[in-house]
Amino acid sequence: MRPSLVVGAFALLQGVAAQWAIWDLWTTTYDQSSLLTYSQPPNGIQFTSPGATGDVDIQVDDSSVYQTIYGFGAALTDSSALVLSGLKSTSPTKYWQLMDYLFNITDGANSGAFSYIRVPLGASDFSAKAYTYDDTTNNTADPNLTHFNISVAPSYLFSTLTDILTVNPQLRVHVVPWSPPAWMKNGTMDGGYIQPQYYNALANYLLKSLQGFKTKGIPIFAISIQNEPQYTNPTIPTTNVTAPAEAAIGKLLRPLMNSNGFADTKLIGYDHNWDNAATYPVQLMQQAGSSFDGVSFHCYKGWVEEQAYFTEKFPDKEVYFTECSGTFGSDWWSDIKDWMDNIMIGSVTYGASSGLMWNLALDPEGHPKLPDAASCGGPGCRGVVTVTNTTWSVNQEFYSLAQAAKAIIPRDSNGPWGQRIGVNVTGTGLTVGAYVTGRASSSDWNRYSLVVLNENDDSDNGGWNPQAVDATIEFRGTQATYTFPVGVTTLWWYAPAQ
Ligand SMILES: *[C@@H]1O[C@H](CO)[C@@H](O)[C@H](O)[C@H]1NC(C)=O
Ligand SMILES: *[C@@H]1O[C@H](CO)[C@@H](O)[C@H](O)[C@H]1NC(C)=O
Ligand SMILES: *[C@@H]1O[C@H](CO)[C@@H](O)[C@H](O)[C@H]1NC(C)=O
Ligand SMILES: *[C@@H]1O[C@H](CO)[C@@H](O)[C@H](O)[C@H]1NC(C)=O
Ligand SMILES: *[C@@H]1O[C@H](CO)[C@@H](O)[C@H](O)[C@H]1NC(C)=O
Ligand SMILES: *[C@@H]1O[C@H](CO)[C@@H](O)[C@H](O)[C@H]1NC(C)=O
Ligand SMILES: *[C@@H]1O[C@H](CO)[C@@H](O)[C@H](O)[C@H]1NC(C)=O
Ligand SMILES: *[C@@H]1O[C@H](CO)[C@@H](O)[C@H](O)[C@H]1NC(C)=O
Repeated sequence: MRPSLVVGAFALLQGVAAQWAIWDLWTTTYDQSSLLTYSQPPNGIQFTSPGATGDVDIQVDDSSVYQTIYGFGAALTDSSALVLSGLKSTSPTKYWQLMDYLFNITDGANSGAFSYIRVPLGASDFSAKAYTYDDTTNNTADPNLTHFNISVAPSYLFSTLTDILTVNPQLRVHVVPWSPPAWMKNGTMDGGYIQPQYYNALANYLLKSLQGFKTKGIPIFAISIQNEPQYTNPTIPTTNVTAPAEAAIGKLLRPLMNSNGFADTKLIGYDHNWDNAATYPVQLMQQAGSSFDGVSFHCYKGWVEEQAYFTEKFPDKEVYFTECSGTFGSDWWSDIKDWMDNIMIGSVTYGASSGLMWNLALDPEGHPKLPDAASCGGPGCRGVVTVTNTTWSVNQEFYSLAQAAKAIIPRDSNGPWGQRIGVNVTGTGLTVGAYVTGRASSSDWNRYSLVVLNENDDSDNGGWNPQAVDATIEFRGTQATYTFPVGVTTLWWYAPAQ
């Protein structure tokens, strides 16, 4: 963080090499000897006249500027909010330390800098009970939503969101239901489908949800119509919403949002796996493209490359990556490689503006969950943070998200967020994302950043031989040299806008 020094040097050195240098690095290594560890090379890692290239050559192309990255984070389920509020009641100092470590986006903070949180509207499988905001006795139809009540959501959900907003006022909240009220469906929150005569009621239900969050002081960045619309499960709130049904509901919701003060809130469709990227989200845009800002993806089926089936057809629509869960019993470093490759670097390279894991916080057993929920089976789903009433610890999910978030947070308070820029990599072992973050004042130098995964550990061949990689970084005709340890490295340098 030495931009003023760099700016001073620029005046003297303009025209020769070494105008810019890497001053800030965060590193998480495979052996956990570094965990989002900050370092500052005393003289900077200088960009000089190009020499021989390293074993891997990273070519940064800042003339190609792509999507804004809105942030990284996870879902604040009811269960996440419950365990966090338990920590708050028992150990408030630890709670606020955790909040700061997760959500402080100040440029120099030692934090994960999460800025994107997904919140279920009503119950998910990580709730104390199944509920929506308009449940009626015997599922009597309530098409005018006279029983709608946002306060049936647990108060700890709103108090936790409020606390997060005090640490990060720029937090982006993306809301989405797991189920509409059972009376809109064929009689059940757990599975089933939305009946067409209630599409209008559902659109109004979603509008009232936005209004309800607003009355609680929570601004909403984006809303989706249904979590995982192609998945039903008779033990947890889920809903079969076909692409034509979602298109019809979106066409009703968008004008309601526009005429009720939510014109700036994004409407995001699909919210399901990569495997159907070529069908459902494409049909949705064909049928109701003007109502939706974009679509979101989950990791549980298919491959990240399939996002291109969507982005190639609809290059002007936004893409979000909104859910992937870690499970207990997996290998710490293998998980980080997987998620950096496919989500925090991979999905973003394929156009995503966000990267989110599933539960933000759970207890050490991956609880609490709905009674009798048959989901997150096997060893169970792990939270990004493991929380008891008296302790917290962060998991591999945290480091994956944090290393990416550090690359795109605003350089100036209320300055712009990072955007992806072009990068090509020759040689093997490194996967790289590149970003530019503009400045509040156009005379200040932009921040350029890389997120670099070094997975040169021979595990692809069934072996184990972790080896650092000697790399060169090419930028505007200059070259820096750095040896990347096996792990994830995020680094920054500053240069004038061009
Ligand atoms: C990266 O590769 C693409 C495709 O081969 C090429 O068009 C582009 O010029 C390359 N950019 C850099 C910075 O080398
Ligand atoms: C945590 O504290 C809450 C009250 O704040 C209590 O109901 C709960 O049982 C406690 N949990 C554990 C695991 O001790
Ligand atoms: C965020 O981090 C900065 C830098 O460490 C610190 O000055 C500030 O107090 C922190 N903000 C909050 C809300 O904790
Ligand atoms: C709900 O259904 C039960 C059983 O059919 C019935 O006894 C009860 O009167 C109903 N309640 C209302 C409010 O309709
Ligand atoms: C809903 O409201 C409309 C207009 O106020 C009214 O005509 C209609 O009867 C109401 N429907 C129900 C089921 O209460
Ligand atoms: C809404 O629900 C809350 C929590 O259950 C309750 O306290 C409140 O009275 C309800 N409001 C109305 C208008 O029923
Ligand atoms: C709702 O519809 C689904 C799909 O047709 C069916 O499997 C389920 O049994 C129905 N549920 C009820 C309560 O009727
Ligand atoms: C959802 O409903 C459609 C139309 O009835 C059906 O084709 C599809 O199989 C259903 N999907 C699920 C997961 O139940």
